Amino acid sequence: MCGIIAYIGKRLCRNIVLEGLSRLEYRGYDSAGFVCIDNNHKHLSFHKEAGGIAPVQRLSEAVKFDGYAGMGHTRWATHGIVDQRNAHPHFNCKKSIAVVHNGIVESYEELRQELIHRGHVFSSTTDTEVVAHLLSDLIDHHSDLKSALLDLTKHIRGAYAFIFLVEQYPETLIVVRHRSPMVVGLGDGENFVASDFIAFSDKTNKVVFLPDDSIALLSKDALELYSFEGKALPYSPQQIDQTYSDIDKDGFEHFMLKEIYEQKRAINRTIAFCKVIGSYNDEVGNPSSDITLQPHPATEYNDSVWRQIGLTKDKVKNLRYINIISAGTSWHASRIAQFFFEHLCGIPTRVYLASEFRYMPFFTEPNSIYIMVSQSGETADTLEALRLINSLEQHTIAITNVASSTMVREASGFLPMQAGPEISVASTKAFSTQVATMYWLANRMALERGTITAEQMHTSEEDLFIAAEILEASIEIYKFKIMQELAPRYARYDRFIFLGRHVSYPFAMEAALKLKEISYIFAQCYPAGELKHGPIALIDEKTPAVLFSVLDELIYRKLVSNAQSVKARKGHLIVFAFEGQHELIDIADCAFILPRVAPLLAPLAMAGLMQFFVYHITRQLGLPIDKPRNLAKSVTVE
Ligand code: AGP
Repeated sequence: MCGIIAYIGKRLCRNIVLEGLSRLEYRGYDSAGFVCIDNNHKHLSFHKEAGGIAPVQRLSEAVKFDGYAGMGHTRWATHGIVDQRNAHPHFNCKKSIAVVHNGIVESYEELRQELIHRGHVFSSTTDTEVVAHLLSDLIDHHSDLKSALLDLTKHIRGAYAFIFLVEQYPETLIVVRHRSPMVVGLGDGENFVASDFIAFSDKTNKVVFLPDDSIALLSKDALELYSFEGKALPYSPQQIDQTYSDIDKDGFEHFMLKEIYEQKRAINRTIAFCKVIGSYNDEVGNPSSDITLQPHPATEYNDSVWRQIGLTKDKVKNLRYINIISAGTSWHASRIAQFFFEHLCGIPTRVYLASEFRYMPFFTEPNSIYIMVSQSGETADTLEALRLINSLEQHTIAITNVASSTMVREASGFLPMQAGPEISVASTKAFSTQVATMYWLANRMALERGTITAEQMHTSEEDLFIAAEILEASIEIYKFKIMQELAPRYARYDRFIFLGRHVSYPFAMEAALKLKEISYIFAQCYPAGELKHGPIALIDEKTPAVLFSVLDELIYRKLVSNAQSVKARKGHLIVFAFEGQHELIDIADCAFILPRVAPLLAPLAMAGLMQFFVYHITRQLGLPIDKPRNLAKSVTVE
């Protein structure tokens, strides 16, 4: 997955493209490149930077040329190592065609061999470069550009969004899209195209989301849109009110830390939004309009939430199965939510990893819903699963943080989290708002189905506010101890085991993922009850075991036994426990003690402290916390 932005119009494009590119770095930051039809000699000029921590920044400092049509790319490597040759843009042999690409060309190996056979010489080992060479041949063989592009689509398998600059057509940006998202921004005497609206959101809010399987020819004054069959496609621009509040760290050293501290407010906003969702008008259903919604008080629960997610009261009452599909941190939040839907609503709930779901047998069942959980709303695995489910005419609901995302547009209904932009690659406030949103939704469903009363629903909402309060307050309590004593101590270990049971097991998985992804310390997670079936062999004094407690009394007792078995093997034990859990606290080498919350919300209450602990371990190691190696914020390739 990569970030792409292109511009054509009345202004010189370098700064517009490079600024847009810096907003797209969340999609990848392995390397970056810029190309334009050079204003001086009317040929393509380009520059690429690879590796290091800030390639877009270095690119901005290095590029001196400019033009009225240009494009940029920030890369997350899939095919070909991270180096300057493999950075985009890529070119045909004569360097008269430049291409930037998001996605994967699956047929690239066979195309490459064919093109080499025809005399083409390749400069990179990417899948993308074949497309520039191929288009060059097709332009030579066809009488017009459109026929060449239609022919191009017939040769390429995979998922792609390409933008081409062709010297022969200097007044046109050429866009070809299949499965990877692309959005055009319409300005006055200038137009934009990017893989995400935020790349040009300060320049225009009039946008056209390009339909799947489409070709766009964009000049400074016009947009022509065609299907892959060559038919002209009508389009109507829509207005997006989202602004790119120039995201700054507000004095925090890293976005991750800022976002950890934003969680209490984000959860409160999310619950407030859910609480009043019934009093909104129908505009809530419009993906582009919800971003600026302000919660206002509502006293009664009405049906609007069901309309928002495309259900009716009766459908909710008759639901037989809930399926949740997601990836990474969103999958951990979904695994926690499984307990909510099963315990509160009594609905059997299955949670799937999106990357596995598509390749498993699919059984359609009556009265089932499919909830797609995603911070970005663009994750390719989850999106493709959504498309598969949609094609089988099942009901899909997107729970995402980005209301203008593809998932929101394609699902039957959606429920937005109110986390606000999450910049750090490591998800923090998206996780906690996902958990909060699904807890609220499960309670609301339970109310509709009569398994809880309105009073219990109100209590659950209060419980969410309390958990958010504890999430933040517990950081304050342990802040200095973590920074001065615990983080320096634990940053010296090179492996950890994470343990949990019941609702704290998926939370332990999330904790292990957080540690792995930002500190590069090896972290293995197990359900604590599984220790004795093998992993207990790993327990020693060099491998701290981090155990997350629960508030269910019976399960807590079992966890205490698991903790004792760690100590009996001279293991080093760190516990996240709740007040009064002396059996656990007393045997731990290090104990974090939190106030009690509603039992199912234990993970939400512990989230901030866990993230803060991991953040400071990583900070000790001096690593690039917001942009860990090999990762990107939004994973738009399979
Ligand atoms: C976690 O910190 C990661 N950023 C990652 O696991 C992420 O949750 C996953 O890629 C799914 O992304 P999504 O929520 O945007 O779909």
